[in-house]
Amino acid sequence: MSDILINVDHVSFAYEEESREAVRDVCLQVPKGAFHAILGQNGSGKSTLAKLMNGLYLPTKGSVHVCGMDTQDEKNTWEIRRRAGMVFQNPDNQLVATVVEEDVAFGLENIGVPTEEMPDRIRKALSDVGMLPFANRAPHTLSGGQKQRVAIAGVLAMQPEAIIFDESTAMLDPRGRKEVMEAVKQLNQEQGITVLWITHFMEEAVHCDRVHIMHDGQIVLSGTPRDVFADPDRIRAYRLDAPPMARLAQGLRAAGMPIREGVLTVDEMAEEVRRLCK
Ligand SMILES: Nc1ncnc2c1ncn2[C@@H]1O[C@H](COP(=O)(O)OP(=O)(O)OP(=O)(O)O)[C@@H](O)[C@H]1O
Ligand SMILES: [Mg+2]
Repeated sequence: MSDILINVDHVSFAYEEESREAVRDVCLQVPKGAFHAILGQNGSGKSTLAKLMNGLYLPTKGSVHVCGMDTQDEKNTWEIRRRAGMVFQNPDNQLVATVVEEDVAFGLENIGVPTEEMPDRIRKALSDVGMLPFANRAPHTLSGGQKQRVAIAGVLAMQPEAIIFDESTAMLDPRGRKEVMEAVKQLNQEQGITVLWITHFMEEAVHCDRVHIMHDGQIVLSGTPRDVFADPDRIRAYRLDAPPMARLAQGLRAAGMPIREGVLTVDEMAEEVRRLCK
């Protein structure tokens, strides 16, 4: 068994037979334990690709394997969705119960987890995202970031190997975004959960192992954040902006300040400024 958890092999997908393919000949391998980001402008095919990765859609061409299981094979469908969970954009559409812990229980009932096993699984999942103190709250009384963390707990309770986040911070305020991002980073680092992070926020992508840029249904650029964002002009061609600190570094260099190449984060910029002020 290889350590590639999600293997997308020359996959194309069209919504209707005649229509233009929303995903075109995409190859992508996500190793176990990795944290990958997918970036791309509106309509570039990110959500379509995400849904191909856990069997919600099936490829028109090519194949997708999750933990070695072909998504095309119907007998794998539920196991694939359990092992590669998804968290979507709008937390309000994902929470169904009137109490937080019942919401987390919902998915477990669907996959037939024995009732006596449920309380432990629910407690652990809520605790992993810092939401255990809210177990008895009504979801509508929570902030956006808290709701998203409950949605993540619902997926975690299924004991997945990977979680695919489709713009899960897009509707949150900066604080909620940070809250969710921190929780997800922790799940990746401490529990080795593989993460696929689809986002519009460049500053989130800088923390990933690898970034894939989608454009018009294809992956046009892949690499470490440092490689992909090294030249802000390159990704502008795909109608994306480099992360704020990379843009600032470029601006300062243009103004004659010797900021080193490859600055991506606030901490790295602070270090550069400190060095220059000495
Ligand atoms: N249900 C659908 N039926 C037909 N076409 C669709 C459907 N969903 C998406 N598309 C089309 O497929 C293409 C890719 O859409 P997709 O939602 O995957 O892009 P995206 O990168 O996720 O965009 P966004 O950033 O807006 O979420 C677009 O041209 C879109 O219009
Ligand atoms: Mg989308």
